[in-house]
Amino acid sequence: MHSEVLSSWSQLNRFTYDLNCISSLLLLLICLITKGHASDISTPPIITAGPTYDSYKFNVLQHLSGISPYFDSNANELSPDPPQGCIVDKAIYLVRHGSIYANDYDYNNTIDPFLQRLQNFSNRADFSKATDLAFLVHWTSPISNSNEQVEKLTEYGSKEAFTLGTQLAQRYSNLVFDSKNKLFKIWASAANRTKESASALLAGLGKKQGITDEIITISEEKNQGANTFSPTKTCLQYDASVGSEQGNIWLKQYTTPIITRLNAMGSQFNFIANDVLAMQELCGYETVIRGSSPFCKIFTPEEWLSFEYYFDIKYHYSLGYGNVLSPSLGMPWVEASSDLLNYTTDTEQSLYINVVHREMPPLILTALNLFNDSNYVGAMNGNPTLPLDQINYQRAWKSSKFISFLGHIALERLQCTSASYTGKFVRILVNSAPQALPGCANGPGASCPLAQYMDYVGDRDELYQDFTDACKMNHQNTTDVLSFL
Ligand SMILES: *[C@@H]1O[C@H](CO)[C@@H](O)[C@H](O)[C@H]1NC(C)=O
Ligand SMILES: *[C@@H]1O[C@H](CO)[C@@H](O)[C@H](O)[C@H]1NC(C)=O
Ligand SMILES: *[C@@H]1O[C@H](CO)[C@@H](O)[C@H](O)[C@H]1NC(C)=O
Ligand SMILES: *[C@@H]1O[C@H](CO)[C@@H](O)[C@H](O)[C@H]1NC(C)=O
Ligand SMILES: *[C@@H]1O[C@H](CO)[C@@H](O)[C@H](O)[C@H]1NC(C)=O
Ligand SMILES: *[C@@H]1O[C@H](CO)[C@@H](O)[C@H](O)[C@H]1NC(C)=O
Repeated sequence: MHSEVLSSWSQLNRFTYDLNCISSLLLLLICLITKGHASDISTPPIITAGPTYDSYKFNVLQHLSGISPYFDSNANELSPDPPQGCIVDKAIYLVRHGSIYANDYDYNNTIDPFLQRLQNFSNRADFSKATDLAFLVHWTSPISNSNEQVEKLTEYGSKEAFTLGTQLAQRYSNLVFDSKNKLFKIWASAANRTKESASALLAGLGKKQGITDEIITISEEKNQGANTFSPTKTCLQYDASVGSEQGNIWLKQYTTPIITRLNAMGSQFNFIANDVLAMQELCGYETVIRGSSPFCKIFTPEEWLSFEYYFDIKYHYSLGYGNVLSPSLGMPWVEASSDLLNYTTDTEQSLYINVVHREMPPLILTALNLFNDSNYVGAMNGNPTLPLDQINYQRAWKSSKFISFLGHIALERLQCTSASYTGKFVRILVNSAPQALPGCANGPGASCPLAQYMDYVGDRDELYQDFTDACKMNHQNTTDVLSFL
């Protein structure tokens, strides 16, 4: 089923690329065909409860943090449609690339060591004694050629990006290709997976006669300073390893009962903490490569929530509120995109799309003060918002909701003429769920009046050090400003 969907999609996709002559009717057809296949990979692994708890449905794929295939979030149940009486007259999207075979850090440090241990294990037939693990007797890694595949977009990843393109074309039919220069630009970080995602997304957007499109590649080199989508790579002060120490404390704790459970099943494999982490990561990666994974079926909801919490801790300390650098790294994009929204004269385009890496969405959220647990559970008597010895189930910082593959943050400018509201407002959506800015949500649909939004961003910018200072960029020619948009 899955491979059928994929191959029919890739035929369509090839068609789009090769024929360059798509009529809008055909595009509509593509939209209809791809709609509905977007976020369900054949049959997603859903865990249910006893017959008296019909409504309990736990979708494993929605708790894999940065390894979750894209899913729309419904965090606060506000409608993603434009509020009544409002139209969107400008929109800016920051989108993470689609699903990849594996991130190189995950592959080198977690998955490959597990594969090696499995290969070294001389009694693989032993696993047949353990019903839940019996598949391991014959299981082979979905990453068959790591040199070729690691960091690359999977076929499903292209499909996800293509589908988002078709959805944006529908959602913003009045904005897409509304280009003053007969040129529609889309911006992507210089890596292959971001460029490939941008290209698939562009194919999904379709074409308009007389308008050409172009992918603008944004450098990730150190001398870019703040003028990049990859500030963690250009900031001299940024240490990519922060968060590992805290994550590992929780990893050791949550995997202890899992190891006991797996070892009691009867193999002589002697599971270690890294094996558990690797198998949980493989659930996600194998799913976006093969369409499903037996690893998704061997853990309980509590064990998946523990895995999700592990990444939430790591990202909190590396890209979130637990790192003082985060807002300074997110602010240049927030400033640049907010300026675009504030221009009263026409800008070159009405729809802007930026395709980036996983680091960007969380940094942007900290610059905007969204998903900040201190705002909500600050009353925890000064305790850390993410304790390392137990899950904070109430936390706002759930990375699966914003760092999934193709995770995105959208800034929409609303033009409202209703009985209750007139004027321009800014609405923020994260994985399609509208988000209320702290202290500025009195517009329709929890939006913020444009002038107040600009003040809010200005105040936030005042609060945090400029990129150059925060990153101690002592070399010349560095910049605090993201200026290519
Ligand atoms: C992962 O391993 C490959 C091959 O040894 C190496 O080229 C790459 O730099 C490593 N990446 C990380 C993030 O460790
Ligand atoms: C696998 O076995 C080889 C040879 O005995 C050993 O050198 C290597 O460290 C082992 N690898 C792992 C991950 O256990
Ligand atoms: C980029 O990725 C695509 C598949 O996603 C692959 O066909 C292509 O060869 C890659 N390009 C480079 C330079 O690695
Ligand atoms: C936003 O636009 C208004 C009206 O043009 C202008 O007065 C204001 O200075 C702008 N704000 C910023 C922060 O640029
Ligand atoms: C997070 O919220 C707390 C409490 O409201 C606030 O003191 C802190 O400055 C916020 N963090 C950021 C980066 O805005
Ligand atoms: C700084 O920019 C100037 C002008 O663009 C250029 O000539 C010079 O080589 C740059 N210096 C460095 C250190 O990059």
